[in-house]
Amino acid sequence: MTKVLLVGGGGREDAICRAMVRSEASVYAVLKNENPSILRLSTDHRIMDETDHDKILAFARESGVELAFIGPDPVLNTPLVDRLWQSGIPVASPSLSAARIETSKEYMRSLLARHGISGNIASRTFTDPEELSSYVRDLEHEFVVKPLGLTGGKGVRVMGDHFQNPAEGLAYAKDILDHDGKVLIEDKVQGEEFSLQVFTDGSHVAPMPIAQDYKRAYEGDTGPNTGGMGAITDADLSLPFLRAGIRENALGIMRHIIRAMKEEGNQFRGIMYGQFMQTRSDLRVIEVNARFADPEGINVLHILYDDLLEILFGIAEGDLRTYVNFNPLSTALKYIVPVGYGSKPEPGMLEVGDLDYPNVSVYYAAVSGSISSVKMTSSRSLAMIATGQSIEEASDAVERSMSCIRGNFYHRRDIGSRELMKKKIESAGIST
Ligand code: GLY
Repeated sequence: MTKVLLVGGGGREDAICRAMVRSEASVYAVLKNENPSILRLSTDHRIMDETDHDKILAFARESGVELAFIGPDPVLNTPLVDRLWQSGIPVASPSLSAARIETSKEYMRSLLARHGISGNIASRTFTDPEELSSYVRDLEHEFVVKPLGLTGGKGVRVMGDHFQNPAEGLAYAKDILDHDGKVLIEDKVQGEEFSLQVFTDGSHVAPMPIAQDYKRAYEGDTGPNTGGMGAITDADLSLPFLRAGIRENALGIMRHIIRAMKEEGNQFRGIMYGQFMQTRSDLRVIEVNARFADPEGINVLHILYDDLLEILFGIAEGDLRTYVNFNPLSTALKYIVPVGYGSKPEPGMLEVGDLDYPNVSVYYAAVSGSISSVKMTSSRSLAMIATGQSIEEASDAVERSMSCIRGNFYHRRDIGSRELMKKKIESAGIST
């Protein structure tokens, strides 16, 4: 059995761990929470700070792992990957420098500009409060305020959604500037957002099905931003409200980014995930990330047909094949979170009963306890996912199975629902 190091203890890592075990890997897990699913599946584990690269390296060496994979972005923002390689352990995740495509929005935007990669959005970084104020005062269109580094999806604020006028946006931008010494102001673009994840060894690129993540806490896309309340994928690899050719277009942009990074001597190996916006007239790059998305990574790993371990070795060794197979099914995933998640969470206990439908599964996220009884934290608890012939069918299956979970929790019923899908298709002007 191949010994593999896996860092991370969320729902995404539970899905990675299950796919590794399907590939007959023996998993050595490093995680900060006692995730009962990962603990049950792994050969050995350490509960510890996931960014303590010295200790993780020591665990990897003493366990004799033959491959390593990193789940969470804060860990990619440490020298762990570089140090594993230096110790002779292949890693299917990007180096500290390559992970800048996610950890530095300035690097990402300037890479796109240097290489004339399409989909870029006008943006400016500010370090001076006076320059920031005068730029915002003169702006004649809506804008977005972004911290430059990692924020777990929660730091971005959009005019019209999270603040209503330039003065409010400026006040938020100044708070970030005070705290971080830098802030990014981007033009606002509107449309349907989607995620395209790819496997890449820095030269070869194998795409996954497109997914859509639902970031806002409440139904109807209202409330505070969260790490993601759920996600959908469709059997045809695109989504019903995306125009023909959008997937190819997005994939072309990702191939161009990967080529540009290689040309600049900053080769990217691992999972790259592009967050795109289909606007009325074109396609824009919102963010580029250096890992599986959470929850979108769970959707795609759940229907991955090929052997994950073989793919990860292909990434690390530079001979990734360019086509990866997925089961031709749609998926809908809904995160079960504590009541008040995103503002004032009230975590309690959840009882996980037997699931009555074979097409429904539960992944474990920021919880501890046992498979049948988990202790919630203030973060996401369980990801319930179903497969179906359509997104709507999968969404209904999740709803039917929610009664298997007992306790005080919240989830977004609207993700993948008939009403929401119809509304999205109509507003994109797609004829069915
Ligand atoms: N789905 C949001 C994220 O993974 O950043």
